[in-house]
Amino acid sequence: SDLEKFITALPKAELHLHLEGSLEPELMMELATKNNIELPYKNVDEIRKAYDFSNLQDFLDIYYQGMNVLQGEEDFYALTMAYLQKVAGEGVVHVEVFYDPQGHTSRGVSFSEATNGILRALDDGQEELGVSSELIMSFLRHLSEEDAFATLKEAEPWFDGRIVGVGLDSSELGHPPSKFERVFEAAREMGLKLVAHAGEEGPAEYVREAIELLKIDRLDHGNRTIEDSDLTKELARSGIALTVCPLSNLKLCGVSDMKEHPLKKMMNAGLKVTVNSDDPAYFGGYMTANFLSVAEALDLSKSEIAQLCHNSIEGSFLTDEEKAPHI
Ligand code: HPA
Ligand code: ZN
Repeated sequence: SDLEKFITALPKAELHLHLEGSLEPELMMELATKNNIELPYKNVDEIRKAYDFSNLQDFLDIYYQGMNVLQGEEDFYALTMAYLQKVAGEGVVHVEVFYDPQGHTSRGVSFSEATNGILRALDDGQEELGVSSELIMSFLRHLSEEDAFATLKEAEPWFDGRIVGVGLDSSELGHPPSKFERVFEAAREMGLKLVAHAGEEGPAEYVREAIELLKIDRLDHGNRTIEDSDLTKELARSGIALTVCPLSNLKLCGVSDMKEHPLKKMMNAGLKVTVNSDDPAYFGGYMTANFLSVAEALDLSKSEIAQLCHNSIEGSFLTDEEKAPHI
């Protein structure tokens, strides 16, 4: 369509993507066979049928099970390269991707195997596809502060520019940002960028904690921010970017219909909104699909779509010189 061509042609960055959430059923089956991992599915159709979620936790249970097929460095390489190939054709010029090291070290896959496989693919993606990238490691918030600190320590050899930041993901309700205040303070002192999921299922108060206690540089999701008008004004004034994920919100029932999605309200409130795919293999689409779905449902203008793409370059961790060619 005309709209699809318009979206694809705009240079943009993806700022909210969990690499493990880009594991397509075909690669999952292939790696399960190669690595002798038992899956509760006989084929890719059965896998796709299982992707019917009522909330975040429903998804997370399936997501952690899926990532069990990732074993050696080569598997992380294949996962990452497949994602980069998908988005390179969608006008994505830069990506800042998350991974969940604790989801791997907890089942006996070493931190270095996972990390080095991903980094090698990111290097090759820059070289072969022209997509620049940064790597952010996320802490699983359902695990303890102590576990997060141990992961931060294990990752230190990669803080020479290979891992540029830390994030916070997994089950939000009951695990407020305040639980990780000291870990984020330590990460900040190490010169790392800071992001956190907040206001996806959790209340606006969690967004406030992420900003005031964790002192984040960017907010992941943040949909529920607009329930608090003072917070919304403060966040708009701060210029902090929000990484909104429309298809994710629909699949996890944060909205019951894309027409109910708060993205336009968030933009109109002055928030620096970006569009992202979160876990595209599980939620039914990569960047273009997310843009198309929300643009059609909310009747976004071309200038609003261009603004969203512009915000993604603006809100990235690229330097001003690195941003310049994409603006
Ligand atoms: N929210 C929280 N944790 C996650 C997500 C998400 O959307 N995707 C992968 N881990
Ligand atoms: Zn996410």
